[in-house]
Amino acid sequence: MQLTIDDRIIAVDVTGQGEPVIFIHGFPLDRRMWRNQVAEFSQEYRVITFDLRGFGESAPSPEVMTMEDYAADIAAILDELDIQEPVTLCGLSMGGYIAFAFYRAYQKRLRRLILCDTKAVADSDEKRRQRHAMAERLLAEGIEFLPQATIPALLDKAASQNVHALVEEMVTASSPQGAAAAARGMALRADSTNLLQKIDVPTLVICGEADQISPPDEMRKIAAAIPAAHFELIPGAGHLTPLENPAAVNQAIGAFLQPRP
Ligand code: MLT
Repeated sequence: MQLTIDDRIIAVDVTGQGEPVIFIHGFPLDRRMWRNQVAEFSQEYRVITFDLRGFGESAPSPEVMTMEDYAADIAAILDELDIQEPVTLCGLSMGGYIAFAFYRAYQKRLRRLILCDTKAVADSDEKRRQRHAMAERLLAEGIEFLPQATIPALLDKAASQNVHALVEEMVTASSPQGAAAAARGMALRADSTNLLQKIDVPTLVICGEADQISPPDEMRKIAAAIPAAHFELIPGAGHLTPLENPAAVNQAIGAFLQPRP
């Protein structure tokens, strides 16, 4: 469905019934990256996936989208869907940065947190410079160069052709303005290292064993700093664990949502 909220058009899929679980995709992808989790968890939960503004079918995007802007969009989606109960929020990479921003602004709306392949630290000066250069190139040249610039670091060498093809489709479906706005927003994001110890909801931390962007050692430290966190290492996966090893990711999320004594 398409939600129109003020001047925002947000593409949202709501599948299944029960306790709400909302998934936030990474950069520069869209809600299709969660297709295996929608299939699995919509049997028992109300699963919500959506395209961040400027990606997939959501628009428009201003020149900069901060993590706080995206978090405000999530709160608006929950309001539109009349979801007042606390939700489980699952974010991958940039989705994790947005989950931290959501935690800061809307803590009471959170029941549980799932952090996949993400970072708590802010960008280095060099990384910020690269983000701004990418934003300028996107605005000057369009989206064509982005698959080559991003996909090699996102996927493990063993990723299937199907996964490669879907990732490429998602990257090229992003609008250049939307991807540029996200890159600029990520460069501005706050450091969340000091937030970790304050997170007071049950948290699952997931990391692909071959993740080059947010490697296992870094993510283990995130899990160790959050009081009620559990860490799961996902074999046979790089940065996009939910697509690369959906069986292991679904098992970890399923056990987290419904722990057995
Ligand atoms: C992502 O997957 O969302 C990106 O790798 C995040 C980033 O560029 O920091």
